[in-house]
Amino acid sequence: MRLVFLGPPGVGKGTQAELVASRFHHPKISTGDILREAVRNKTALGLQAKACMDAGKLVPDAIVIGIVKEKLAEPVCANGFLLDGFPRTVPQAQELGALLESKGLRLDRVINVSVSREEVVRRLTGRRSCPKCQAVFHVDFAPPQKAGICDRCGGELAQRSDDRKETVEARLSVYEQQTAPLIEYYRQQGVLSELDGSGRIEEVNRRLMALLTAKGLA
Ligand code: AP5
Repeated sequence: MRLVFLGPPGVGKGTQAELVASRFHHPKISTGDILREAVRNKTALGLQAKACMDAGKLVPDAIVIGIVKEKLAEPVCANGFLLDGFPRTVPQAQELGALLESKGLRLDRVINVSVSREEVVRRLTGRRSCPKCQAVFHVDFAPPQKAGICDRCGGELAQRSDDRKETVEARLSVYEQQTAPLIEYYRQQGVLSELDGSGRIEEVNRRLMALLTAKGLA
């Protein structure tokens, strides 16, 4: 299974990709998680990426393409992978396509997740995540058992710095300008599937599983 999860920030891509990844034991590659880890560890990559991320802008294509190429070369990706948050520009999609083609592979599906803009803002501003294990919660929709504490590892939950309201607006407009064109790009390649991301996490996951089953992927 080689899937891409596409959609605006906060639509629930990461949440659904995580559920599919654990169900089918495929690695989930989230460029956002990888970049945030680099920022936390103050690596050269992190230092380069931080300013873009804090401003809600995209990190330059060459950087993220390099990250993904490295990840996809790992043996754990040989039998499939789920890409969450990549590609995000047409050049990134072209590079991914060329890389897969050079290995005789192709994407099975690109899942385009959508909800209303209002819902996206609610999901983003209420999101809390664990800086230690990357588990994601929501203060109202997916609260941890103990407020502020990660159910998985006991870490202290935090709000992402780019989930503040003003940065959220910037991210949404970057999405419209630079990422939304990928919907048409992949539709023309015949690999796009639309997923209604509204409703509870479990409901969305049921729809996603039905979609994957209908495509012979689950
Ligand atoms: P990244 O981390 O990829 O952020 P994003 O795409 O903006 O996506 P999010 O993680 O915000 O949202 P999501 O759709 O995964 O939602 P989630 O499942 O968490 O990127 C961050 C930054 O890194 C970018 O701005 C950029 O600077 C850089 N970057 C990353 N990739 C890049 C690339 N390829 N090129 C260039 N730059 C790149 O859900 C959100 C919340 O809603 C959670 O709290 C969750 O619990 C809740 N929720 C989920 N589903 C539901 C539901 N059905 N009902 C109610 N609540 C729900």
